[in-house]
Amino acid sequence: MAGFFARFFGGKGSRPPGPARPPGRSSGAARPSAGAAPPDGPGGASAGQRPDGDPFASFARALGVESPRAPGDGEAEGAVGPGELDAPEQALAARLLEHFRKNRPGPAAAPSLSLRLLNLVASPRAEVGEMVRLISADPALAAGVLTVANSVAYRGREEIETVRAAVVRLGIAEVGRVAGAVGARSLFHPRLKAELAAHGPRYAGLFHRALTVASGAAALTLQRQGGRSDRAYLGGMLFDVGKSIALRSLAALAAEPGTPPLDGAIVDRVLDRVHVEVGGECHQEWNLPQYLTVIAVRHHDPVVPADAEFAELHAVRLCGALLDLREPFLAARAAGEIVQSARALALDSLAVRAVDAELRSAAQRVASAFGVDPGR
Ligand SMILES: [Fe+2]
Repeated sequence: MAGFFARFFGGKGSRPPGPARPPGRSSGAARPSAGAAPPDGPGGASAGQRPDGDPFASFARALGVESPRAPGDGEAEGAVGPGELDAPEQALAARLLEHFRKNRPGPAAAPSLSLRLLNLVASPRAEVGEMVRLISADPALAAGVLTVANSVAYRGREEIETVRAAVVRLGIAEVGRVAGAVGARSLFHPRLKAELAAHGPRYAGLFHRALTVASGAAALTLQRQGGRSDRAYLGGMLFDVGKSIALRSLAALAAEPGTPPLDGAIVDRVLDRVHVEVGGECHQEWNLPQYLTVIAVRHHDPVVPADAEFAELHAVRLCGALLDLREPFLAARAAGEIVQSARALALDSLAVRAVDAELRSAAQRVASAFGVDPGR
């Protein structure tokens, strides 16, 4: 298992902090800090609270960003602040949920092979023969596994030509995870030509994000006592799947006559608003393991208990929030999640900076291994 993650995380050393994405689009984003002060030492941020009352301050310094503006902070009365939807966006979100509930992908329409694979990967009783049989039964899946196994991130001196050879080369656990990732890709794939034309890059971006968070959360749990990296990996893969499912309903609504083209920022905000609800319902309908459903449903809860049973949830939540931090609309919520989950995982600001650096490294490896662009 460790080898799979080792390939996604070349080194454990931290890199200097800096923005993972271009500077934010508005004052709501966590902005790269000019002349960022050095982070607090170990223990400084684990306490969380700063004398100035901003619990995110030490993390902001460590990550090289400014603390995002809280919703309502400095807004004119009646203005729509970061993290909030205006009235037309709220109406669109309501229409989207209505469309999803009328046309939801049922179990028959769900990617059953992908889900069987994901469950098999999580099973301690996974068998080589069953894994090879499942992968080999699906040409697209077999091709995907071979492509990944021969990618720069994985390949050795000789080309891998068969699924069985991939198992021999990489080991059952690694092939299982690669297969799970390739299988999960169908969850992030547009189904219709119109969806592909309108939102293809966004599906790819969601897939890239899921794999990056999965890899980051798994690596984080591997480095700590408590928490299971296999659960964290699958949790990261599927915690935001509601966005890709909701995008299908949004694409269908956008195709209706008279609907004006949707601005990308509006799509982001509406997907974010509905994704926990949509994802939770899909998780239940697809009979995914309960721990995965809990992660999908609770990862944006304002408060998540620090109990050991939520260790994987906090790992996924922290990694997702570090990616969200540079998005203006999501920055304030992400900052709160970082503070709380870091505290639950006993990570100080330096440790969170290391997680952030590893996430960026993982993002590059995912882009290389799976040929996906992190862009929207
Ligand atoms: Fe989310």
